[in-house]
Amino acid sequence: MPSEVLGRSAEAELVGSVLGGTEPAALLLDGEAGIGKTTVLLSAIDRARELGFTVLFARAAVTESALGYAALADLLAGIEPAALDFLPAPQRRALDRILLRAPDDGAGTDPRAVAAALLAVITRLSERTPVLVALDDAQWLDTSSVHAIAFAARRLSGPVKVIGTVRTGIGEDQALWLQLSRPEALQRIRLGPLSVGALHAVLSHRLRRSFSRPTMMRIHEVSGGNPFYAVEFARGPADNLKSGALPPTLAELVRQRIEGFAGDVREALLAVSCLGTPTADLVGRALGLDADDVFTRLADAEDRGIIGVDGDRVRFSHPLLAHGVYSTAAPAARREMHCRESCSCWGCSRCRTAAHGAPRTFSGRRSNRSRTIRRCASKYWCHWRSPNSISAGSRSPRRGLRRRLPLPIGWTARRCAASRWP
Ligand SMILES: Nc1ncnc2c1ncn2[C@@H]1O[C@H](COP(=O)(O)OP(=O)(O)O)[C@@H](O)[C@H]1O
Ligand SMILES: [Mg+2]
Repeated sequence: MPSEVLGRSAEAELVGSVLGGTEPAALLLDGEAGIGKTTVLLSAIDRARELGFTVLFARAAVTESALGYAALADLLAGIEPAALDFLPAPQRRALDRILLRAPDDGAGTDPRAVAAALLAVITRLSERTPVLVALDDAQWLDTSSVHAIAFAARRLSGPVKVIGTVRTGIGEDQALWLQLSRPEALQRIRLGPLSVGALHAVLSHRLRRSFSRPTMMRIHEVSGGNPFYAVEFARGPADNLKSGALPPTLAELVRQRIEGFAGDVREALLAVSCLGTPTADLVGRALGLDADDVFTRLADAEDRGIIGVDGDRVRFSHPLLAHGVYSTAAPAARREMHCRESCSCWGCSRCRTAAHGAPRTFSGRRSNRSRTIRRCASKYWCHWRSPNSISAGSRSPRRGLRRRLPLPIGWTARRCAASRWP
């Protein structure tokens, strides 16, 4: 991610006005995938930190959108346990439970206690410094977090700002749930195309070369001023730039890039794309490798800007690339990877049967593998039906199956369980 945000001065001005003042204010940045929403949000976060804000930040991911309180846990992850001591016991217990700081006592989590606790924590923080709640890809926030954040947002007071990004073009209008007590304090803008000049600057920065004016005009026309598309297009085969033929679609560009990798690298990328919070350790367990070998296998993908590594975390440089890897894999390969990952990291006696305790199980005959996968799926179902589950709501028929996620099992296990059907 370049530290400099190019060609977005109007948006920067708006961010500045939202961060100013002592009243609650919110800004939603929407636009198509790759247009630069996250870039503007990250720069708003940098700016807020420079101004002394406390920043609560969550990046939603499609693989985690069915996990109860996944985003809220990310928002609150940086807060020291002692800073929650002022909360009344039921609210404290509720937050400790979603932050997995409390031992499992088998009781459910009261959504009202979570929402009230979130509001109380934000209010308390804002007595010391202004607070920015930053939500990236709000269309993928899990429903439990949405309810808690919406509850708190309607009741905010003091210098608390909310800035979120929302992807358009994926069906129903997203993030309409975000409201403040003063409706005029919420603004929503759509990010438009970058200018030719700004796009040229982005390309020169990313690809370390410059482009002639006619080439730039063509890239701008093809990409519609979308920087992600433009970078992928300019990075692709030289024919893309020269041909007078119809430009490839973004999906096609992403596919071209992914197909350039060897089979074992693609397998490792698939493992990353299937996990909600991929770490080298989790990927390694799914592939039967140790963490160092995972980094070695993914080195080429990192060099080519497909993934980034941050400590133990492995992350696609853009969700479209994760989607591209996932959607170009054969359905059977995806199912098998989900099952491998769940079985290898669940570590749960209910799931770990002699039949599928380790990834190697899947090297058996095809019929054995699919039997194992079916058996594994039925185990998930047992977990979902746990009486101690919380309601994660359901925003689409596709998610109906995952409506109830169990709290008592571990965080990783819940992530894996949900990533079973992303
Ligand atoms: N204004 C900008 N200045 C520099 N680079 C940008 C700008 N907008 C987008 N990019 C680059 O384009 C790519 C896609 O941007 P991103 O913010 O991830 O898009 P979105 O969140 O809308 O999908 C990123 O690699 C980012 O670095
Ligand atoms: Mg984004």
